Amino acid sequence: MAKPTVVTTRAALLDALGAVRAQGRTVGFVPTMGALHRGHISLVERAVAENGCAVVSVFVNPTQFNNPNDLKTYPRTPEADLDLLDETGVELVFMPSVEEMYPQPDTRQFDFGPTGQVMEGERRPGHFNGVAQVVSRLFDLVHPNRAYFGQKDFQQVAIIRMLVDMLGYNIEIVECPIVRESDGLALSSRNALLTPKARRAAPAIHHAMALAQLQMAQRTVQQTAQWVVEQINAVAPLQVEYFTLANAQTLQPIGAWSDAERVVGCIAVQAEQVRLIDNIIFK
Ligand code: PAF
Repeated sequence: MAKPTVVTTRAALLDALGAVRAQGRTVGFVPTMGALHRGHISLVERAVAENGCAVVSVFVNPTQFNNPNDLKTYPRTPEADLDLLDETGVELVFMPSVEEMYPQPDTRQFDFGPTGQVMEGERRPGHFNGVAQVVSRLFDLVHPNRAYFGQKDFQQVAIIRMLVDMLGYNIEIVECPIVRESDGLALSSRNALLTPKARRAAPAIHHAMALAQLQMAQRTVQQTAQWVVEQINAVAPLQVEYFTLANAQTLQPIGAWSDAERVVGCIAVQAEQVRLIDNIIFK
């Protein structure tokens, strides 16, 4: 399998994509912040399978970090990322510097309404604005036919769909299932930062949510929320930041199971210094 071409400038990316377009090939795009794992690779493999050309970006976007320490400690493994991508069939890897992506500061403000104000939007002010800034810049460069995102960032996918509508992009957003370790922990670049103790505890997050989902007929929404939080907080050092049962379309919290056709449970948990998020479809 041919190794991907790595480009670091916008000009080189546009050049390479010009050739792809001239051949009439479709483009599938997987934006990432690197520290790649099997979850990312599942997106890449799908982009390769469904398009004439697959493009991956690896860029730790500073504008979406509301916590400077999180930005500083975010894992960066460019060589290992390229090794992993070598065998996937991806054609282009875009690895820009911060200056290349933001020659001038991006001052755009996006308003995603109530969808952007709950859960991650509430706990990480400015996070989705930063995501929208970088994703729109990347979409403007790559002009993909399809873009692939993991369902682990459930709210992010909803925000990206709104962004696509807002800016009138003709891009199909493909949402891909969460990939988990055999013990249930959702794959995340941040898992590499877990201490052994936190790593041993972390599967309790998915276990509690999965069991709550199986038993949902036995509990009200409020009882379910309380039960999940208690189960997880009982496993040191896990501390639930929020667990919200929400309408899967609007991301607004529900009061009763009948409030929405599709219900998602979204969670953020502090595991010592590492913040983990996960979710599960309740119905
Ligand atoms: O999900 C991520 O890794 C990031 O938020 C994204 C979409 C690559 C934007 O930086």
